[in-house]
Amino acid sequence: MPRIIALPKATISIQISFLMEAKLTAIGIYAPEKVVDNHYFEQIVDTNDEWIRSRTGIVTRRFAAENEFTSSLAEKAILNMAAEYKLQLHDVDFILVATVTHDQIMPSMACQLQYRLNIPNTGALDISAACGGFGYGIVLAKSLIHSGMARKILAVGAETLSKVTDFSDRTSCILFGDGAGAVLIEAAEKGNIGACVVGAEGSGGQDLYLSNLNTVINGEEIIANNKIIQNGRKVFKWAVSQMSVQFNVLLEKEGLTVDDIDWFVPHSANMRIIEAICKQVGLPIEKALESLSTYGNTSSASIPLALYEGVRAGKVKKGDKVLLLGFGGGLAYAGAIVEWA
Ligand SMILES: CC(C)(COP(=O)(O)OP(=O)(O)OC[C@H]1O[C@@H](n2cnc3c(N)ncnc32)[C@H](O)[C@@H]1OP(=O)(O)O)[C@@H](O)C(=O)NCCC(=O)NCCS
Repeated sequence: MPRIIALPKATISIQISFLMEAKLTAIGIYAPEKVVDNHYFEQIVDTNDEWIRSRTGIVTRRFAAENEFTSSLAEKAILNMAAEYKLQLHDVDFILVATVTHDQIMPSMACQLQYRLNIPNTGALDISAACGGFGYGIVLAKSLIHSGMARKILAVGAETLSKVTDFSDRTSCILFGDGAGAVLIEAAEKGNIGACVVGAEGSGGQDLYLSNLNTVINGEEIIANNKIIQNGRKVFKWAVSQMSVQFNVLLEKEGLTVDDIDWFVPHSANMRIIEAICKQVGLPIEKALESLSTYGNTSSASIPLALYEGVRAGKVKKGDKVLLLGFGGGLAYAGAIVEWA
């Protein structure tokens, strides 16, 4: 029979005083130099600039060079952040990298960054949650700090989607771009990462995928060409309905109303998705930050790209309440409310 041991009150209070909170303290980005506008696609598929702008909101995106991979984009985003905030990285004790476009599946991107950045001893883990990956990174970083496992974490979203894009499919090739974003999350007595949500609906796995070893998802035969394949309409509908719900779950958990939110940073998948979520939750569209128009859909990098641009433009200010919400392949989602430091 299990025995219940009652801890003396003094022990409990000592344990609680050791609990640290998580504080997002810095952000940096990197995007490849090559800018690709919508006219590029007019040469390769039956589409046009007007359709792409009006149906997606995308104007340009960046493509990595042939010899440029996710690890180098991630490294540059971290180094840009370190330079801008004058950071020391040697005492980072965990690296989380969200991506679906690893240079290699093994070793992980996080291990490669540990080596390249010369960080002596750190936990290193890749997150496979597609466009929800950066949100998962924030939630995991908060949990690692709260549990006492880590004190200084690099959380990164980085992608080279142009390398896994099917350029013969007009419904998807116009969407994707390459980029990277990194944040630093540190242990602090007073944190700024509040309520979090995570979730998954694996039943929609075959609606958005990138094939690898197995050619079957949920009993359905898939197209096995190592490219991103999607049912755009289904993902669109799921994103609008589920993310509107999760937006409100975050508000309720944090004890806020929609009017308390200064900035909404959803995954930049499609401008019409962002507009529809804003309409459903009653948030003015002017409070949404996007990276879509400039960078296209960059999956796990889209939220830090939008947030960084919002900070640099002087929109996001100290004390602002920012609601981040990532969603995509899996289907999976994760988000958090952050009070900007
Ligand atoms: C892909 C997406 C842009 C398509 O937009 P849509 O408004 O849903 O368009 P539909 O799929 O209903 O197609 C409408 C028509 O446009 C056509 N079309 C699709 N892509 C086109 C393109 N690039 N140029 C011109 N016409 C195009 C379709 O063939 C269809 O033609 P039809 O009516 O003759 O059959 C949109 O569904 C989307 O963004 N979905 C979410 C996808 C996503 O974000 N994935 C990443 C994961 S987060």
